Amino acid sequence: MDKHLKIAVIASECVPFVKSGGLADVVGALPQALRELGHEVIVILPKYRAIDEQKHGLQPFLSPLGVWMGNTLEWCRVNSATTKAGVPVYFIEFDKYFDRDGLYHDADFRDYSDNPLRYAFFTRAALQLCRDMGFKPDIVHAHDWQTALAPGYLKIWHWADSVLGNAASVLTIHNIGYQGVYSADYYDYTGLQWGNFTSDKFEDHGRMNYLKGGIHYADLVNTVSPTYAEETREPTYAWGMAPYLNDKGENYVGILNGVDYSQWDPAIDTLIPAQYSPEDMSGKAICKRELQKHFDLEVDPDIPIVGVISRFAKQKGLDLLAEVIENIVNDMAVQFVILGSGDKGLESYYGKLSTWHPGKIGSYIGYSNELAHRIEAGADFFIMPSTYEPCGLNQIYSLKYGTLPIVRATGGLDDTVAQYDERTGEGTGFKFWHLSSLAIYDTVGWAVSTFYDRPKHIQQMVQRAMGQRFSWEDSAQEYVKAYYKAIENKKAV
Ligand code: ADP
Ligand code: GLC
Repeated sequence: MDKHLKIAVIASECVPFVKSGGLADVVGALPQALRELGHEVIVILPKYRAIDEQKHGLQPFLSPLGVWMGNTLEWCRVNSATTKAGVPVYFIEFDKYFDRDGLYHDADFRDYSDNPLRYAFFTRAALQLCRDMGFKPDIVHAHDWQTALAPGYLKIWHWADSVLGNAASVLTIHNIGYQGVYSADYYDYTGLQWGNFTSDKFEDHGRMNYLKGGIHYADLVNTVSPTYAEETREPTYAWGMAPYLNDKGENYVGILNGVDYSQWDPAIDTLIPAQYSPEDMSGKAICKRELQKHFDLEVDPDIPIVGVISRFAKQKGLDLLAEVIENIVNDMAVQFVILGSGDKGLESYYGKLSTWHPGKIGSYIGYSNELAHRIEAGADFFIMPSTYEPCGLNQIYSLKYGTLPIVRATGGLDDTVAQYDERTGEGTGFKFWHLSSLAIYDTVGWAVSTFYDRPKHIQQMVQRAMGQRFSWEDSAQEYVKAYYKAIENKKAV
């Protein structure tokens, strides 16, 4: 069990280089934690336009890299950089696919129509890079549909390869709502051979499905919380993948994400107006005041603030919140601060709320890491009414910032937040089960009335929440176990 493993992580985003959501946080933190456990990890990313070469010190690494896609040989270049923690990162540079403003979609939130080509190419190029540089991984770790072809490529093309032939594969599903389902017209370009276009592998109702192929070929599949792993074994949550996940048996597991506490800890956070800790909470009051000022809210320490930081996607349940948020601020003495972007309808609605309810609701439509930190620090509560949530990171950040989560009890939200018990004051947040705007209204009401009527309980919960620890070290150890299991599975074939 002590062997030092060589791991190639292939992913479509990674902090601090480029981020659209929690996937980037995970791909940024896990390799570092694995390295601290003594393993050798490299990360391979696409070189998007958004990546600041100067800031991150990208250097030319290899040119040219030839990648066979179907019958086409594509030529690209590779850059490299090293993270502060010493993890080598390689960037596949291919302007035809990655030199554009967005990662996955254009400014109007429309997916790029060539996404199947872009990510098939990227995944294949990443494996080719391992070959060209002689990096012989024990594990190739793919993330989400974008790189889910990696396990298939390994088994179909590289099984006898001197560099990649021994690599076992792990596929992490961060979100089963996105599977990479595209017209079979693109299948030729993937080079995965028509014999594999069958309903247990890449075929999905006549289309091709990248994630499904990944589930089939990976030596081990995991998702990012135990509850989501259970939920996705049932049809309701699995978007058609339940039978294939169930076929994996014990080779489909849930591993809870950790948090990078070097970035998300109010005691050392330099992006917030004042630091604070469980021993000295005075800084949190300053953060709250500054947040109220920043959003032109009534400056009053006694009015609770509920924070939202989110992609505006159906998954996040913000359409349900939209149905009741105005009733909530009309009926209760509470303020909201909202940060997010995505769905254009929700952007327009939440963007206007601050003019419709001045002093009570503040919103910023867009992406701002700094503001995200300031909201975590300044708010009293943090709401995530998700329809489903594979893990969720913001509620875990909220715990650390003493900002009590109000969550729908699903996936990782259920695993990380303990329900408030008003008899004893136990718990770390407020959970509801029913997916409805009424449940949101009631649960916010419950949190707000607790804030006013049982402040002692709130204080106890804040202390308890801040004491919770979801460290990457623990999660990385789980991943190492998963890697060994994948290696065993590969040997057994
Ligand atoms: P998901 O990956 O589904 O979006 P997570 O809760 O796992 O959900 O992770 C979201 C991450 O993205 C968090 O780190 C959060 O702070 C960040 N984030 C989301 N939207 C924004 C935004 N508009 N501005 C800044 N950070 C954001
Ligand atoms: C996905 C999920 C989110 C999870 C993140 C990182 O984007 O929606 O719940 O925390 O990936 O694993």
